[in-house]
Amino acid sequence: MTTSTRFERVVAREVLDSRGRPTVEVDVRLVGGATGRAMVPSGASTGKHEALELRDHDSGRYNGLGVTVAVGNVNTVIGPALAESELRATDQAAVDRMLIDIDSTVSKSNLGANALLGVSMATARAGAAAEGVPLYRYLGGLTGGVGVIEPRLPLITVNIISGGAHGGQNLDMQDFLIVPVGAPDYRTSLEWSTRVRQSVAALLEAQGHHTHLVADEGGLAPFLSSHKQALDVIVAGIERAGLRPGRDADVAIAIDVAATEFYNGNEYVLATESSRLDAAGLIEVLASWTEQYPVVSIEDGLAEDDWDGWKALTERIGDRTLLIGDDLFTTNPGRLQRGVETGAANGVLVKLNQIGTLTETLQVIEDARQAGYIPVVSARSGETEDAFIADLAVGVAAPQFKVGSTTRSERTAKWNQLLRIEEELGAGAAYAGRDAFGR
Ligand code: PGA
Ligand code: ZN
Repeated sequence: MTTSTRFERVVAREVLDSRGRPTVEVDVRLVGGATGRAMVPSGASTGKHEALELRDHDSGRYNGLGVTVAVGNVNTVIGPALAESELRATDQAAVDRMLIDIDSTVSKSNLGANALLGVSMATARAGAAAEGVPLYRYLGGLTGGVGVIEPRLPLITVNIISGGAHGGQNLDMQDFLIVPVGAPDYRTSLEWSTRVRQSVAALLEAQGHHTHLVADEGGLAPFLSSHKQALDVIVAGIERAGLRPGRDADVAIAIDVAATEFYNGNEYVLATESSRLDAAGLIEVLASWTEQYPVVSIEDGLAEDDWDGWKALTERIGDRTLLIGDDLFTTNPGRLQRGVETGAANGVLVKLNQIGTLTETLQVIEDARQAGYIPVVSARSGETEDAFIADLAVGVAAPQFKVGSTTRSERTAKWNQLLRIEEELGAGAAYAGRDAFGR
């Protein structure tokens, strides 16, 4: 047992993500024989404060998006360093500390956050395998401050209509999603979600839209003439599915505005509606939607550095709306702290590759809890068949989980993993449901 969880070999390779772009896959093998594999996701509407995703910029391969340098950094720098060290894979915090130290930059630009994260995640998988426990239980045990967390299935947020950088700029805003708030358990929430998606697709078909071509996260991507049209068709789709739209009914609505993408440094430029708004103007639009529609959650309602706007938005509708910072916080403990101190947002999107190690990600979740902010574990628009985040969401009992649509296998890989975990936890499985808003 004494040497069994030390590192024997760490190997990376270049594989493809769901957009057909290269990404990093890492295999970790421990001396005792346990193994772990992980794949790194990649964003499109990335925040400028994210850790650096290292790309080759060799225009002769994959349009410059190759990751052979990041892969080489794992194979020739990180891997040998871990194999020569006394570190144990089960000491995740020490492994991640070493990764951060070898890289030695704040943005992880030296070796690449994609190189570091692949090793970090594969290490956790190998650690779980060595201990013979499911990944979600293992991850729950890593959260230092609060001790072992009881696994719980999250309330899901499901993409129905996509726009922005994920949908060919058909709409300015990025995601119109549903939240099956009234479902009694996870499995039912997933069935309701697929039913609503099919209903919305049928309604859009009837209006003459194409619904077989889908966006990056599998959402429908119709060219609508206003954002309210997206909200209207989703409400109608919920009803057509035989469910009741409403905050306290069966299915509510969430929006990822991804406002950074249409902020020009001065104004929010909405091409769909030919309008230009300042922060106050956009806040009024969003506030009016929370009155006219069962919108329970708004992500990135304002741009990533519009701290004053965020404070005003939170004062305006934060009492009745979950306001999630994605590009605003970039899963970064320092930025979350600034948000807590200034009263910006009341929730934080959690994406492993925005910060680059598992330990820092767990830290953000813990900090969010301490501050009364709701952590929402999330996929990226560029995903893989790796379902690590499903185990993460259950393991840390994250109240909410956002993966994209119910189509495309890189999305269903996560939904299906939650089905397996729900089965394994059995009849008494805890489910966040309505408690997922903490109020
Ligand atoms: P991204 O999109 O992965 O392209 O950043 C996901 C999101 O904005 O939530
Ligand atoms: Zn987002």
